[in-house]
Amino acid sequence: MSSALRQFKHRFLIGLMKIFAGLGPAAAYMAFAGRGSSAQLCRHIARSGVRRVLVVTDRPLRELGIADKVVQELQAAGVDLAWYDGVMPDPTFDHVAEGVKVLKAHGSEAVLAIGGGSSIDAAKIIAASACNDEDPRQWVGLGKVRFEVMPIYAVPTTSGTGSEATMGAVISDPVSHEKGIISGSTLLPSATALDCELTEGLPAHITAATGMDALTHAIEAYICTWDRGTRLSHSRAAIKLIFEHLETAVNDGANSEAREAMSTAAYYAGIAINQVNVGNVHAIAHQLGGKYGIPHGMANALVLPHVLEFCREETQDSLAQLALLIGAGREGEAPAQLAGAFIQAVRELRSRVGIPDRSGKIRAEDYDYLCNLAMAECESYPVPRLLDRESTLAILANITA
Ligand SMILES: [Fe+2]
Repeated sequence: MSSALRQFKHRFLIGLMKIFAGLGPAAAYMAFAGRGSSAQLCRHIARSGVRRVLVVTDRPLRELGIADKVVQELQAAGVDLAWYDGVMPDPTFDHVAEGVKVLKAHGSEAVLAIGGGSSIDAAKIIAASACNDEDPRQWVGLGKVRFEVMPIYAVPTTSGTGSEATMGAVISDPVSHEKGIISGSTLLPSATALDCELTEGLPAHITAATGMDALTHAIEAYICTWDRGTRLSHSRAAIKLIFEHLETAVNDGANSEAREAMSTAAYYAGIAINQVNVGNVHAIAHQLGGKYGIPHGMANALVLPHVLEFCREETQDSLAQLALLIGAGREGEAPAQLAGAFIQAVRELRSRVGIPDRSGKIRAEDYDYLCNLAMAECESYPVPRLLDRESTLAILANITA
């Protein structure tokens, strides 16, 4: 397909998306925030009248006693619990099927996810599958979950994916290694708890990678071509919080102020992408995660500065605004200079939190495969510039060790 035709098709698709998004219900966000707020969320769930809840989590959180501590208030209120703790990183439809089996045997009326993005995403698809007999593989794509889903609640134990604030869920195919996104307005969690106490024990490398994921969300929502809702204000707030607090959260994990700031930032960035979606960075990073198992935040961090350079001309004014926001430049400096200063600040933050700029897992023989998938994926996002083959191959070469 010629470049001009591809761009025309992209503008047409994004135009359609804008029309359909305007027809749907407005998203309603509800969050309990601060240390101990997961107990408040549990009291809220119990007060809503739900009597049987499926808890979706992973085994380490169960073994550490973290998940059981979170649900104490539910048990105290007499809510009957069932557990599915088999979620692994990059959940698959097999994980979903196992969770649905537990849910149906228990007769759960709501799902509570405790964990990182994998547990929250799995919980969303488990809840949807319990409310509809279709094969969930049919829902991969944009906005294909169009039916009522039982209430989903989320207690994130990392600060990055923002899944607690989005209507999307990432699912992986263990055979093809490709990642798909299932979405629909009824997959947005009814309420979440941003309980920073739960993130204080998170290892530094996970804090760094998930924090860079949140930063990527906020930047991609800020530079996209779809001016919708509160994406600018939520992105700006998230970016400022991340530049001010991520390094401290990585180096001093028990620092409550930094942890609380990062929980808030990830949530704000999630709200931003829930309105306009992600962009080129994710289009490439999803392939790196699917093919090599590179953690999502790490993959984003590898790609982010290169994609910003790739669309620097189209996004110069936005990047210049962000440079002023984080203090990487001064009023009166040329926008081109400010934009460059912001990209450099992103590189420096990545380095300060210990994330390398290249990965030894990426193989040159896979470039074409990765490039084709990334170019296809970016066409569904409101990106300022569509990835092209030459630039995508150059980005892949630049992040290969
Ligand atoms: Fe992400």
